[in-house]
Amino acid sequence: MKIFLDTADIEEIRTVARWGVLDGVTTNPTLFAKTSGRSYEDVLKEICGITSGPVSAEVVAEDVDGMLTEGRAFAKLAPNIVVKVPMSEEGLEAMSRFAEEGIKTNCTLIFTANQGLLAAKAGASLLSPFVGRLDDINQDGMIVVRELAEIVAIHELESEVLAASIRNPVHMTQAALAGAHIATIPFKVLQQMVHHPLTDKGIVQFRSDWDKARQALAAKAEGTKTPA
Ligand code: G3P
Repeated sequence: MKIFLDTADIEEIRTVARWGVLDGVTTNPTLFAKTSGRSYEDVLKEICGITSGPVSAEVVAEDVDGMLTEGRAFAKLAPNIVVKVPMSEEGLEAMSRFAEEGIKTNCTLIFTANQGLLAAKAGASLLSPFVGRLDDINQDGMIVVRELAEIVAIHELESEVLAASIRNPVHMTQAALAGAHIATIPFKVLQQMVHHPLTDKGIVQFRSDWDKARQALAAKAEGTKTPA
């Protein structure tokens, strides 16, 4: 299973790349708005320099021509750019045109398995069901991930299911068990996945026992020295 970081924060991306667990990055206009003082294009180019995995860049146009213009410009920034297109009638048309042009797409804002199926048929490489936002309205978002993963497997579709809007470590485990090929997660959730109170306590305990054992050895060695 691949792990993407859901952020436009360069330092977060560099940190996770150093951990050796970064397979790609997803950005969106909201995440970009949290960065300051730089163009979206500059941020994307820098991210593509950190990871060779897919980097999703989202279009904001709502018409097909606008989506195509924005997406083609993103695709020129780096070979690993994936154009993120929202699920809509226009989005389907744009994804199908991008597929003809050899430009990879990530269909975003998927909330039903049927939307995902349509995006796959239109040629999207990545299908992004939003788990957390469905949970927010009292629906089980993980059901869409599971259904879509099953549909992709049964019909041997080429698209990958990318569980998005992941809000906590339990979502991550559930997405992995539901058969998601990828999950995109915020940096904070990745940190939560690393830590466990018993792990952190165990590290402190091992260090303390190690130090005690070495001190005891040193004291013993000191005591057995023959006087000169
Ligand atoms: O990449 C988009 C998605 O992950 C957004 O998550 O938490 O804003 O619903 P959230």
